[in-house]
Parts: sequence; C-alpha cells; structure tokens
Amino acid sequence: MTPIGVIHTPFRQMRDTPIQPLGGQAVRGQIVLDPAYAEGLADVEGFSHLTLVYCFDRITQPALRVVPYMDTQERGIFATRAPKRPNRIGLSTVRLLGVQGGVLDICDVDMLDGTPLLDIKPFYPRYDNRHDARAGWLEQVAEPPVAQLRADDRFAR
Ligand SMILES: C[S@@+](CC[C@H](N)C(=O)[O-])C[C@H]1O[C@@H](n2cnc3c(N)ncnc32)[C@H](O)[C@@H]1O
Repeated sequence: MTPIGVIHTPFRQMRDTPIQPLGGQAVRGQIVLDPAYAEGLADVEGFSHLTLVYCFDRITQPALRVVPYMDTQERGIFATRAPKRPNRIGLSTVRLLGVQGGVLDICDVDMLDGTPLLDIKPFYPRYDNRHDARAGWLEQVAEPPVAQLRADDRFAR
C-alpha cells in the first residue's frame, strides 16, 4: 500500500493523544492529500463524517497481547483497538468540516501529527451502525468519562 496523504493534528506525542475520536471531540486536524488523488475527493463534501484508514507509523514493536486502556488485564490485540497491531492499521471516524482542493478540514481526531493516510471512506449510518452489537470484555469494564479518553500513555510503553 502507498499512503495517499498525511493527517495533521495537534498531537506530537502518544501520551497527549486521545484514545478514540470521542476523546478528541472538537479537536481539529487536516488531511493533506497527495495531489495525484485529489480527483477522488469529488462528492465527498456532502458527508458529515469520514472513516479514515491509516498507518500507526510510530509503532515499532507490534504485540499480540496488550493491556488495553479500559482494562487491567491482557487481551488479544484483535479484541482491542490498541495501535500495536501487526499491520499497524488505524481506523477513525472523524467529522468533515470542509474541503478546499486537496485539503480536508476535520475534527474529532485521535492520531499523531504526520500520520500516513491509506484511505478515506464516507461514513454511512445505514451500512456502518449495528444496533444489536455486543462489546465483549468492554461490557464488563466501567466506561470512563469522555475526559479520560482524551489521553493516555499506555501505548507509548
Ligand atoms: C487506541 S488507538 C485508536 C485509534 C483508532 N481510533 C482505531 O481504533 O484504530 C489511538 C492511540 O494510538 C496512538 N497513535 C495515534 N497515531 C499513531 C501513529 N501514527 N503511530 C503510532 N501510534 C499512534 C496514540 O497513542 C493514540 O492515543
């Protein structure tokens, strides 16, 4: 895969970065698309939210078990959203504020500044929402207030 652009955010260090877009609510960022892909942005502006697929490029040591932010015990990486994944793929649904040429203004960001972007998909509630979803081990842990989703240093270890 070849990155199609770069995601810019105010976050320079993992410990300052929200752990999900919910924790980064209203935090603004920008996508700067490689001009070679700008034509693919036609019709994107009508969507309120976009799902970004990107690379956790600052992960050097993937792990198959991690202690996730919301828990105290180890879980299999594929039962978490932690970044230490074998293929380092991140997935965040962000709010689209506007498009000017090959630059997209977004908010609700939870990735580091300079993160390589692999793909953009429009969020479509009819396809993407699941009203009968179960949440595995997350159903057993107390949901922290949104403020606590804002930053964490666990993934920096
Ligand atoms: C728990 S992950 C969730 C990301 C995404 N919403 C997902 O579910 O795939 C978010 C954390 O990944 C880390 N992170 C963000 N951008 C990164 C990057 N480019 N390289 C490595 N780690 C990154 C930060 O520590 C951030 O708090």
